[in-house]
Amino acid sequence: MRNKLTVIGAGHVGETVAFNCARLELGDVVLLDVLEGVPQGKALDSWESTPIFGFDSNILGTNDYADTADSQIIVITAGLPRKPGMSRDDLFFKNLEIVESCVTQATEVSPEAILIVVTNPLDVMCEVARRASGFPRNRVIGMAGILDSARMRAFIAMELGVSVENTHAFVLGGHGDSMVPLPRFSTVAGIPITKLLPEDKINAIVERTRKGGGEIVALLKTGSAYYAPALAVAEMVEAILKDKHKILPCAAYLEGEYGLTETFAGVPIQLGREGMEKVVEIALTDEEREALHQSAGAVKEWVDKIPAATV
Ligand code: NAI
Ligand code: 2OP
Repeated sequence: MRNKLTVIGAGHVGETVAFNCARLELGDVVLLDVLEGVPQGKALDSWESTPIFGFDSNILGTNDYADTADSQIIVITAGLPRKPGMSRDDLFFKNLEIVESCVTQATEVSPEAILIVVTNPLDVMCEVARRASGFPRNRVIGMAGILDSARMRAFIAMELGVSVENTHAFVLGGHGDSMVPLPRFSTVAGIPITKLLPEDKINAIVERTRKGGGEIVALLKTGSAYYAPALAVAEMVEAILKDKHKILPCAAYLEGEYGLTETFAGVPIQLGREGMEKVVEIALTDEEREALHQSAGAVKEWVDKIPAATV
């Protein structure tokens, strides 16, 4: 029997996640949105490409949560994207309401699902999803670190003129301007970039990575990035459904790891069929640890603003 995954929100990120997960034959995909006709039209259009690409996954567009029942994975992309001049945090109150409602309805009919949260502000929306679902921490995971690391990898490859396949990058912390790219753990063919690039070039890569989302928003003017974010989600879905035990940077609910408790933060985790199998702890310098704690502190400030009556 095929896997079933649901993508809530048929906007730029959602439709691209749905299409790519179907194209990779990760399972049959249900695409849900509040807009009538939009998920149905996008799903039909995507499905009509299957003979060309040669994949057999079904893609169903719907406005009805009953169609999403018994999904193994639910990806939450519903919400408003960032517009120029808006910070991710500006989205907070509107998206809080949307995420709570989507998670409540989706988990009611798929109580064993694994939630992958994408909606911004990411780390806070993960907490909203955790509370609304009541799921254990292994089944509520946020996508951000793979995207931020991919950006850093792309910039490293560009700077050194090497294949992106040779690159590896580590970005910890919250998905915002306080994220913590770690040059010490970022490598090209196993060699740390600190041995390959001068400090000013590394600082420029770190800064561009931190502002990577904003750079795209400023260019697009009407929305935010979606190709790289959607493929980052597909990598998570694949790691889970294929039980790969793959270590990827994701937003995870920490219970003491890295000295942080009861908060989501971007850290390396191992992903498999049960969702998050474990948090992978790496030894940080005092400076790196301080930056991670500051980033987590910024997330916590917003979590404290979630109205008690909401979730
Ligand atoms: P979009 O505006 O293209 O799509 C959002 C979709 O959500 C729309 O189709 C809208 O109708 C739908 N929606 C709104 N309320 C809904 C509800 N109650 N139920 C179901 N659907 C609902 O936005 P886009 O570009 O797809 O981005 C989606 C979210 O993902 C944004 O919050 C954005 O900031 C975030 N994002 C996060 C990233 C990350 O790294 N975590 C990366 C890229 C985007
Ligand atoms: C990004 O980093 C919008 O958070 C999204 O592109």
